[in-house]
Amino acid sequence: MCGITGYIGFRDAYPIVVNGLKRLEYRGYDSSGIMMYDGKEIHLSKTKGKVSDLEAITDNDEKRKKGNIGIGHTRWATHGVPNDVNSHPHVSQSGELVIVHNGIIENYDTLKKELISRGYVFKSDTDTEVLVNLIEEVKKNEGCKLGQAVQLALTSVVGAYAIAVFDKTKPNELVIARLGSPIAIGVGKDNSEFFVASDASPFIEYTKNAIYLEDEELAVVKIGKDIKVRKIKDDSMVDTNIQKLKLSLDQIEKGGYDHFMLKEIHEQPKAIIDTYRGRMLPNEGLIKMSGIDDNLNKFLNADRIIIIACGTSWHAGLVGEYLIEDMARIPVEVEYASEFRYRNPIITPNDVVIAISQSGETADTLAAIKLAKSKGAFVFGICNVVGSSIARETHAGAYTHAGPEIGVASTKAFTTQITVLTLISLKLAKAKGTMSDSAFRMYLQKMELIPAKIEALLKIDEKVKEIAAVYKDAKNCLYLGRGFNFPVALEGALKLKEISYIHAEGYPAAEMKHGPIALIDENMPIFVIATNKGHYEKVVSNIQEIKSRSGKIIAIVTEGDTQVRDIADHVIEIPETEEALTPLLTTIPFQLLSYHVAVMLGKNVDQPRNLAKSVTVE
Ligand code: F6R
Repeated sequence: MCGITGYIGFRDAYPIVVNGLKRLEYRGYDSSGIMMYDGKEIHLSKTKGKVSDLEAITDNDEKRKKGNIGIGHTRWATHGVPNDVNSHPHVSQSGELVIVHNGIIENYDTLKKELISRGYVFKSDTDTEVLVNLIEEVKKNEGCKLGQAVQLALTSVVGAYAIAVFDKTKPNELVIARLGSPIAIGVGKDNSEFFVASDASPFIEYTKNAIYLEDEELAVVKIGKDIKVRKIKDDSMVDTNIQKLKLSLDQIEKGGYDHFMLKEIHEQPKAIIDTYRGRMLPNEGLIKMSGIDDNLNKFLNADRIIIIACGTSWHAGLVGEYLIEDMARIPVEVEYASEFRYRNPIITPNDVVIAISQSGETADTLAAIKLAKSKGAFVFGICNVVGSSIARETHAGAYTHAGPEIGVASTKAFTTQITVLTLISLKLAKAKGTMSDSAFRMYLQKMELIPAKIEALLKIDEKVKEIAAVYKDAKNCLYLGRGFNFPVALEGALKLKEISYIHAEGYPAAEMKHGPIALIDENMPIFVIATNKGHYEKVVSNIQEIKSRSGKIIAIVTEGDTQVRDIADHVIEIPETEEALTPLLTTIPFQLLSYHVAVMLGKNVDQPRNLAKSVTVE
């Protein structure tokens, strides 16, 4: 939630900061702002709306763009409605300190009252303006430098933050700190310039050297000097660990596609290969995953596996439940991290917890992991973002190698999460002896064919587009699936809701008659997964029930199906595969459908309203 970026060095800061904000816009896009320092004066530009709205303000005003120092922010509102005043950066009462902040200061009200009693007057409703004034107050009272003032102020703060602070009286430095929200510092040649951002994408073309701050760390970056990082609580110095970034510019650009979401849908064959490459060895009949190999007994002796996640990752977790129970015969429970963390769950050291997160920063999932660890459970992470908080917080894990996912609606993260869960299930099944060697080898071979099958499936785009055109004005939709494809129905409904704002519900097909059937009439499109394995006849009966109530049926069937074709209004064929692998295919038409409906309705596909890619607040 919220993206922050900044530059200090010898180049024009404005294009770096503004382009950086555009790359971080997936993190929030309610409002945006930038502070530029021209060597004498601070120039603040901020507005409700997107970075393009900000550019409209700065475009014809050179003084707003002048200087080699700048910090910027793109906001997902927490405290205070999105408007110009609440937009970041925020300036302290004296006008000397400027801050950008990602996170929430939970005790801001108490701090604000204290500051008001000391004569501070607030312009905005934000917790961030409280923080910058708190820093100013500490600096004034203690007579200390900015770094120390920030450090002391943060010891009184409850909440989460990633901040960058500028002091007009010391314009060759920035102070950066983190607790719970990610922040990366790009280091230029010979410390001649520094970049700061919520992830490394804003500075990838300038430097491959980056430092990711850990929680409760504070860095002072000064032109020409080595970065100093210290622990906020005990003031101890931390060895700076400069990492070499692997990210490339083309990974974070649209590459000829109209939207990131469409690009990411099309990237799925490669993302799945990248995820199983080196792990799945069909010729040798082996799956190698060090995170599982090193902890195999923990999994095999576990009383149960608890999968925790949110949103789309939770849907992948549900597929995982079906896979692990079916193949490895280990009991699995799937929990929303937000519920799990607060419902006083029973967790024992004999439980294995699998936490799934694309961003690796989701606050609820992170808190649920900490809770499980505190009760002695072994926690395994499945994350996409390398080095993210969840990847670091878990005992072991496996990355999905999907590459950066920028479209807010998750696509390739979902299928690569399912890929990892399939590998884990197969591996555990083999180790436990619940699957024969020949079945295991057959699965590996079928799994290896999945990327080419998705590639073929993506060619049905035009057909899906035609179906989208027919149903784009629907007010409500139902998604039905059974078994492994029940979670795909939930995910299909979520995709449509998120980007087209059409109300949609996902249901297990047989549950329809326990309630949702009342909704069915001739205006109701119902998307049904009816592949020829797994409860096929039962789903066909459900389709008949819809037909007799005049519902419109769009069915996902296996290539060559004739039975459903005779009843449904539209059919979309997917290539044949094993039932347990079908979610990797059935989800593709739903992604394309949501995409086309949203485009036809003129919605902002990559940045749907009210959402953000990385939910670092609870
Ligand atoms: C939906 C979507 C969200 C995320 C959820 C969890 O398209 O993207 O539902 O899946 O916010 O995020 P991660 O996986 O980053 O923990």
